[in-house]
Amino acid sequence: MNVPVSRADAARVAAWLEDFARLSEPGSSEGVTRLAYTALERKAHDVFAGAMREFGCTVWTDQAGNTIAERQGREAGLPALATGSHLDTVPHAGRFDGIAGVVAAMETARIYSENGIRHAHPMRFVAFAAEEGARFGQACTGSRIVSGLTRPDDLYGKRDADGVSLAEAMRSIGLDPSAVAEARWSPDEWAAFVELHVEQGAVLESSGVPVGVVDLISGSTRMLLKVTGRASHTGGTPMHLRADALAAAAEIVLLIESIAGDFRHRGTRATVGRLDAAPGSITTIPGQVRLYVDIRDVDSDRQRATAGEIIARAETLCARRGVRLSSRLLADTSPAVLPAWLREVVAGTCAELDVPHRIMPSGASHDAQMINNVIPSGMIFVPSRDGISHSPEEWSSADDLATGIDVLAASLLALDRLLLDSPELA
Ligand code: GLV
Ligand code: MN
Ligand code: MN
Repeated sequence: MNVPVSRADAARVAAWLEDFARLSEPGSSEGVTRLAYTALERKAHDVFAGAMREFGCTVWTDQAGNTIAERQGREAGLPALATGSHLDTVPHAGRFDGIAGVVAAMETARIYSENGIRHAHPMRFVAFAAEEGARFGQACTGSRIVSGLTRPDDLYGKRDADGVSLAEAMRSIGLDPSAVAEARWSPDEWAAFVELHVEQGAVLESSGVPVGVVDLISGSTRMLLKVTGRASHTGGTPMHLRADALAAAAEIVLLIESIAGDFRHRGTRATVGRLDAAPGSITTIPGQVRLYVDIRDVDSDRQRATAGEIIARAETLCARRGVRLSSRLLADTSPAVLPAWLREVVAGTCAELDVPHRIMPSGASHDAQMINNVIPSGMIFVPSRDGISHSPEEWSSADDLATGIDVLAASLLALDRLLLDSPELA
């Protein structure tokens, strides 16, 4: 075999996942809650940093809050190969989304270290900060910053449900938002990135294939729609004199579902994930409703056109009902096409390890999507039980994770050799 790497240890992987799962907001009973740019997220980064130091890595945190651990390369002056994912979660998450990729990085470092594996390029193991869009609406903040897609000025407008801006949240954990440009990655220093992640869909499980090699990553357009009607007494106001913002919002939810489900939108996913009705009293007709809309697509034109169509048709619907509609763009990320040559390295490694794989798109956003703007990036998916994610029921077996980690650890070594011979690829 071309890529001799001793195998990943499933029990150790499961134990690390358990350690991270314990770092959850107290009182948040179901699942794991460890939001972006909180003290708990920092604690998880400290656990990662401690383990990586034990494997002989040099560890630092950048101005975006990303933790980077480096294992020295054999040859001086070469750019780094990298792997990793994120340690923050959505509210009431499972224990795998993002964490699996960080644990995969830890296990890869352990395999290299305990087997004395020497690679020419430095290997960097990265825990990205603030990947989830759940708190601030925008996904992948840590990896957007290193890719130059999010700049200091962008950190003031995006706020969480309590009105805390990204910049304030960063400051509260000791980061300096005005200095984030210092975190930028340069292709002189970084050569290629491969992220392992749980699939968050049911394609691998239902087809009985243990590994996915990702070709496309969906983009997302996120909007806040505000419907303004007239709050009034539920007993005193006859049905024909109402301007019920929630009834209009209910129609908008169904409109969005039907647009995404029509024949022009095969593959588009559009969701109202949150809906806040005010004043929120059983005896008052809702006067105002906020709908948070998330549109995902691998087709960037269709993604933006869908957003436009939703607004136009919701306006017509609101006019018919005598309520007003306003819209605000919360975040917008383009889909990514990952480089074929890197995909072929990962697919070739699967073949060498005798691990069946399939090429597949990603419905979710990922740090690799952002990093691919700076350096060539690839992704390895492992099966998700019943395709469930962003839920306490999210599950992937430790054996499947170990198989994915074997592919990751060997793929990075294959890249190490390939880029020595063909540095122009990176
Ligand atoms: C990231 O988890 C996403 O929402 O796609
Ligand atoms: Mn994730
Ligand atoms: Mn997620």
